[in-house]
Parts: sequence; structure tokens; C-alpha cells
Amino acid sequence: MRSFKSILSIALASASFASAQTYTDCNPTNETCSADTGLEQWTLTSNFTNGKSAFSKSWTAATGTTMTFGDKGAVFNISAEGQAPTVSSDFYIFFGQVEVKMQAAPGTGIISSVVLESDDLDEIDWEWLGGNNTSVESNYFGKGNTTTYNRAIYYAVDSPTTEMHTYLIDWTEESVKWSIDGTVVRTLEYADANGGDNFPQTPLRIKLGNWCGGCSSEGEGTIEWAGGNTTFDDAPYIMYVESVKVSRGRESK
Ligand SMILES: *[C@@H]1O[C@H](CO)[C@@H](O)[C@H](O)[C@H]1NC(C)=O
Ligand SMILES: *[C@@H]1O[C@H](CO)[C@@H](O)[C@H](O)[C@H]1NC(C)=O
Ligand SMILES: *[C@@H]1O[C@H](CO)[C@@H](O)[C@H](O)[C@H]1NC(C)=O
Ligand SMILES: *[C@@H]1O[C@H](CO)[C@@H](O)[C@H](O)[C@H]1NC(C)=O
Ligand SMILES: *[C@@H]1O[C@H](CO)[C@@H](O)[C@H](O)[C@H]1NC(C)=O
Ligand SMILES: *[C@@H]1O[C@H](CO)[C@@H](O)[C@H](O)[C@H]1NC(C)=O
Ligand SMILES: *[C@@H]1O[C@H](CO)[C@@H](O)[C@H](O)[C@H]1NC(C)=O
Repeated sequence: MRSFKSILSIALASASFASAQTYTDCNPTNETCSADTGLEQWTLTSNFTNGKSAFSKSWTAATGTTMTFGDKGAVFNISAEGQAPTVSSDFYIFFGQVEVKMQAAPGTGIISSVVLESDDLDEIDWEWLGGNNTSVESNYFGKGNTTTYNRAIYYAVDSPTTEMHTYLIDWTEESVKWSIDGTVVRTLEYADANGGDNFPQTPLRIKLGNWCGGCSSEGEGTIEWAGGNTTFDDAPYIMYVESVKVSRGRESK
């Protein structure tokens, strides 16, 4: 019963997450969409300690999000219920590397996220639970397939909510590799993603966000997964992103 309950809550949590912060304006699997904008250069470094100009060039804040920038980079500030600062890249990549140097937000139930997502809901993620100062979750989805929720794996990381770390996603046709501070912690081979059918293999864009999974607007399953009910006694709960370095594919040989 206990294990069933925990599987169920994870399912509810992820389903709710999918609707809370991930969405698609146009799903090309069942409608005709305009072409995705690619990244022009091979490598883009957005160093948010350089302020708004580094941001405005390549990123857009979601409706309702006001970004500020400081010594620690982009500030994803939650100081009250109902706030969920989220930004996305103006471009997509079709295989490549995404390296994010960041510090996750503290706070029970507060979720920092780096989500690579396509219009037809392929997805590669990092997520940090603000009440957990020792780990990070890695996850992926293929074509929005949420039949099972058994793909999340947690890895140890030292004080993610008080220290900057470098988190890398290296996405090729053959595999997805997640690395922390230069060490590969997880490798997903193409064939291991449901024989390749659920391997992320369509253009992804990058979404960075901070949201409240422990707020009363969320379902009980989400609140449990997020680590419990959020209180704002210790707010603000801030996720800082110093920089994002994106490389698309590999230079042709
Ligand atoms: C596209 O298909 C998905 C999955 O079948 C469905 O959930 C979604 O509502 C559809 N979208 C449109 C715009 O038809
Ligand atoms: C971002 O810029 C700051 C200030 O120039 C520099 O100290 C820092 O190393 C840069 N970060 C990255 C990841 O390049
Ligand atoms: C976060 O937001 C609160 C409320 O607006 C503000 O007082 C605080 O200065 C902000 N923190 C940072 C680091 O910008
Ligand atoms: C943090 O998450 C890890 C991995 O899920 C878990 O083993 C650990 O008990 C958690 N720590 C706290 C304080 O919840
Ligand atoms: C969705 O995932 C389930 C479980 O991994 C798998 O059995 C099923 O074939 C997948 N569906 C599609 C359309 O790929
Ligand atoms: C996270 O752990 C570090 C090192 O133990 C500690 O200094 C810091 O206060 C912790 N942060 C939170 C929010 O508990
Ligand atoms: C969160 O608060 C609700 C309402 O007070 C309570 O029923 C629930 O058990 C709490 N959830 C957790 C995970 O603590």
C-alpha cells in the first residue's frame, strides 16, 4: 500500500507539473505549426551577471514574470503565493548541450527547474526540491507519454540551495547524459527509452523556472512530492542562474 501510494503521488505530481509549467502552443503531431527558430551560432553563452542585455538577446520572460539581475545572475524570486517566475529561450536546438550554472531556491515545496521541451512534448529535465539540500532530480519524457512515472532519478549534490553548481545536459542522437560539475551521473541510451520511441528526438527549447509545488493550489500528490506544504515565513525563495551555455549539435567534420 505504501509503495502504491508513493507511485500514485509521483504520478499525480508529475501530471500536475506537466500542466503547471510545461505546455505547448502548437503540437505538430496533430496540427500544422510554424517552423521552430534555431540557434544561429554553434555556441551561445548567456552570462546573466551581465544583466538584462544578456537576457533580452535570447530569452523571453513568461507573462507575469519580471526578471531582475544581480551579482549572482538572473533572479527567480518567489516572495509570495501565486508567483512562478519562468523564462524560455527564443530558440530551439536539435541535439546539443545545455550547461546551466545555478543555485536552486530553498524552501519546502519550492521547485527550481531546468526543462528542455519540444512542441510535441519530448522533455529532458533537472528539478530541485527546495526542502532538500542534498540532491537533484533528473527526468525525461517522450512525446508527453505519462503512462508511467518511473524515469525520475535523484543524484547527490552538495548544498544545491546555497551553492552554485554546473549542471549539464548532453543530448545526442545516441544518448542523453546528465552531469554535475563535470561528472556524468546518468546516461540514457536511445534504446532504453522504450526502444527509442520515447527518446527525446525533436527540437527542444530551454525553460528555466521556479514554482511552488507545495502551495495549496496544487494537488495533495504534488505537495507530497514537492516535500510538503510551503509557508512563506522564510521567503523570498530565490533561484539564481549565473549563466547558460548552449551548443547545438556538433560541428560537421
Ligand atoms: C494533440 O494530441 C494530444 C494527444 O493526443 C492531445 O492531448 C491534444 O489535445 C491535441 N491537441 C490539439 C490541439 O488537437
Ligand atoms: C560570468 O561573468 C562574470 C563577470 O564577468 C564572471 O566572473 C563569471 O565567471 C562568468 N560566468 C561564466 C560561467 O562564464
Ligand atoms: C525578492 O522579492 C522581494 C519582494 O518583492 C524583495 O523584497 C527582494 O529584495 C527580492 N530579492 C532579490 C534578491 O531581488
Ligand atoms: C533528499 O533527497 C534524497 C533523494 O531523494 C533523499 O534520499 C533524502 O532523504 C532527501 N533529504 C531530505 C532532507 O528530504
Ligand atoms: C508510453 O510508455 C509506456 C510505458 O513506458 C509504453 O508501454 C508505451 O508503449 C508508450 N507509448 C508510446 C505511444 O510510445
Ligand atoms: C544547505 O547546506 C549547507 C551546508 O551544510 C548549509 O550551510 C545551508 O544552510 C543549507 N541550506 C539550507 C536552506 O538548509
Ligand atoms: C498540507 O496541508 C494540508 C491542509 O492543512 C494537510 O491536509 C496535508 O496533510 C499537508 N500535506 C503535507 C504533505 O504535509
